Amino acid sequence: MGHFLARTGLHNRVYRPEFHAALERRFPEHAKALYDEASAHKEGNTRPYYTAKNSSLDFSQAVNSQFWGDRLEEYLAWFVQREWPPAHRILDVGCDNGILTCFYAHYFPDAEVFGIDICPEAIERARELAAKLCLDNVQFHHADALDMPAHLAEKPYDLVASSFVACNIAHPVQGPFASTEECMSNPSDPDLASYAHALSELLAEGGTLVSADGMKSLAAFASWSRALCDSGIEIDWSECDCLSLSEGSDKALYGRPVLIGSKQDGASYQPGDIRALWVMAETQQLGEPIELMGTAAELVFQAMHPKQFVAGVELTLENNRKLRHEVWEYEALAMRHVHFGNGGRLLVLESRLMTPQLVKELDEISQGDPEIVRVERYDSPK
Ligand SMILES: C[S@@+](CC[C@H](N)C(=O)[O-])C[C@H]1O[C@@H](n2cnc3c(N)ncnc32)[C@H](O)[C@@H]1O
Repeated sequence: MGHFLARTGLHNRVYRPEFHAALERRFPEHAKALYDEASAHKEGNTRPYYTAKNSSLDFSQAVNSQFWGDRLEEYLAWFVQREWPPAHRILDVGCDNGILTCFYAHYFPDAEVFGIDICPEAIERARELAAKLCLDNVQFHHADALDMPAHLAEKPYDLVASSFVACNIAHPVQGPFASTEECMSNPSDPDLASYAHALSELLAEGGTLVSADGMKSLAAFASWSRALCDSGIEIDWSECDCLSLSEGSDKALYGRPVLIGSKQDGASYQPGDIRALWVMAETQQLGEPIELMGTAAELVFQAMHPKQFVAGVELTLENNRKLRHEVWEYEALAMRHVHFGNGGRLLVLESRLMTPQLVKELDEISQGDPEIVRVERYDSPK
């Protein structure tokens, strides 16, 4: 896989400021156009950005190397360690310059592989890339996933892949930790629903969908999985996974769960592990502790099940208010859960390696604060 990626011109991510300087030196005009479009991109119109990004194949791959190199590599490393049902027709929706599509063609040499994108320049680059890699089982078409031309839609696909496209098409519910129940009771975003419906229409009965669509929040992720189910795709939660899929520029930008589903008659929405999968994705790279407050803290804390209590301390303040600091463990995580006397909550998620340190801190918390009149350690949850 590494060899394949190197042949596409994808290099390991370089440090961002150096990249910008290098990009400007190598591609002065293209880089300026891309930066201009990146500001517009932030305001919601992504199309000119992909036009600018795809002004040449070298430039497109240089941009991929910087911003998405890790993500693409991680996704493909995950992809090849899974077993996939035999696939004869594969569709990569929103293929951009075709790097993933070409990989599918390389990986499934007997399959007919299609890549579509709404950006015509992306399609030109994708064709160039396929020619460079001497692949003859892949074709690219300029098409809108929401309005597929008949010649591409008439025969279904047995593997449909969507990587970081849903978040481009739709503007789903925001709000970092809206509850799963809340998302379930709200209608899903109409654009997400249309995109999910389009994917389902393209998928063969029993075919497999792989959606590595970055979502910015648990709420958005829940809406997306619900939209898929509403359109007849049964998500197989036991097969879903989460990847670190780091973004060069902004790790926190997207959620990284990968959904695996199949088109089934009478698919039903079983939100089961949405929250746990999301939380797992969020906490996968615990370079920095993750801090959640209030309802978010409590929701996530409750989602971590079953978890083990490690130690706790109750502090009584002068005004008789009580605070509890507890250390818990859940799989690879150590958690500091704080109940403030006024009902507030704080949850800090760290690597499990930090448990001894967090327990030690329980002793330190109570030291030297004149407001604390009583300290009580406990060994099972209160
Ligand atoms: C973030 S890029 C993802 C590219 C690639 N799948 C990856 O994972 O790196 C999103 C792509 O989706 C394309 N796109 C957005 N809306 C689309 C639509 N309605 N139909 C087809 N492609 C679309 C964009 O042009 C862009 O190339």
